[in-house]
Amino acid sequence: MSARPALVHLVAAARPNFMKVAPLWHALNRVDWCRPLLVHTGQHYDHNMSGAFLSDLGLPSPHLHLGVGSGSHAQQTAGVMVAYEQALLDRPPAWVIVVGDVNSTAACTLTAVKLGIKVAHLEAGLRSFDRSMPEEINRLLTDACADLLWTPSPDADQNLAREGADPARVELVGNIMLDSLEMMRPVIEAARAWERWGLKPKGYGVVTLHRPANVDDPLTLEAILRALGETAARLPLVLPLHPRTASRLAQFGLERLLGESPGLHVCQPLGYTSFMSLVMGSRLAITDSGGLQEETTYLGIPCLTLRPNTERPITLTQGTNRLVHPTELGQAAAQALAGRWAKGRRPRFWDGRTAERVTASLGRHLDQAPASGEVRPPLPRQAAAI
Ligand code: UD1
Repeated sequence: MSARPALVHLVAAARPNFMKVAPLWHALNRVDWCRPLLVHTGQHYDHNMSGAFLSDLGLPSPHLHLGVGSGSHAQQTAGVMVAYEQALLDRPPAWVIVVGDVNSTAACTLTAVKLGIKVAHLEAGLRSFDRSMPEEINRLLTDACADLLWTPSPDADQNLAREGADPARVELVGNIMLDSLEMMRPVIEAARAWERWGLKPKGYGVVTLHRPANVDDPLTLEAILRALGETAARLPLVLPLHPRTASRLAQFGLERLLGESPGLHVCQPLGYTSFMSLVMGSRLAITDSGGLQEETTYLGIPCLTLRPNTERPITLTQGTNRLVHPTELGQAAAQALAGRWAKGRRPRFWDGRTAERVTASLGRHLDQAPASGEVRPPLPRQAAAI
């Protein structure tokens, strides 16, 4: 290994990325052979979607902020690529680590590999087999291009093998999000977030909703809200509202539905500690998020996933997750409340020690890497345009 610590970029962009990056940033910061730099693309920019997570998770202010913000998929992806290319040319790292499946994950991967910089993808190999999801396209693209694929579960390894990935590129490391949960557990357990609504532990459910397939169509969104209202009549529900959902509700004139259900408590998006406190105290979760399917499996809490598929099938086969159509929500919630629900068990390597395994893996690969990232010069403008 070289005497100088290797520069490694850790890319975070949107809310679910911060809890994947945080444990790894802390782990890499503790070893003397690595200098981790936090890169924030700016895909999420509201304080409660971004800054609150950095401070909750003990992350520093980003060393590099690309400030890209919202836009269409092409605008957002292209904006990240243009800004990140310049940052990579200014000061090339030895490795780039990307996490998850958001637009910035794919954009940064594509940019770095084209400059000849090594990329590792943490949470590789997950597949919903639903190409109408933007995240599925991001997952396929990222895994096709990245040099090193760190997977959370054996189903991910199988997907990558089926796609022809060289087994030497693939390492099962486990689920890094649960490292954040364990790292923060004492603070989370002390937070008692439910008290804000006068609720009791195990006396309420927690809801998150933001997938385009659920919130971008007015009829679907209305059907889900009505089903939530009916469920909230039996069990109070807390719904921290994602900005995408909030803007669709306003656009479709559906905000009034929120006020019609007394048991449905709607609030702004919560920081990591408050949200996980709310989840830990909950009787059940209703969600279309990927991360919450995993966190509830880890915590043994029933999870009703409002999607026709999941890229996290291990939460169905080993965990507490069930896919539920909005028309079945009331019935499924009744079953969960009656205790007729899978108890589940924790998948292998979902143990709060994934950052250690990733750090060890990166150390082995850095031995093979050039001391400073050698950057392939960009193509002349004309050649690049062809
Ligand atoms: C993105 C990810 C999704 C992830 C989700 C978590 C993609 C394709 N999608 O979806 O995988 O599960 O983040 O939240 O990358 N907005 C704000 N403030 C913010 C961020 C967004 O108001 O801080 C608004 C935007 O203006 C936009 C909407 O929310 O109208 C959606 O934001 P965007 O980042 O495009 O996608 P998400 O739906 O958040």
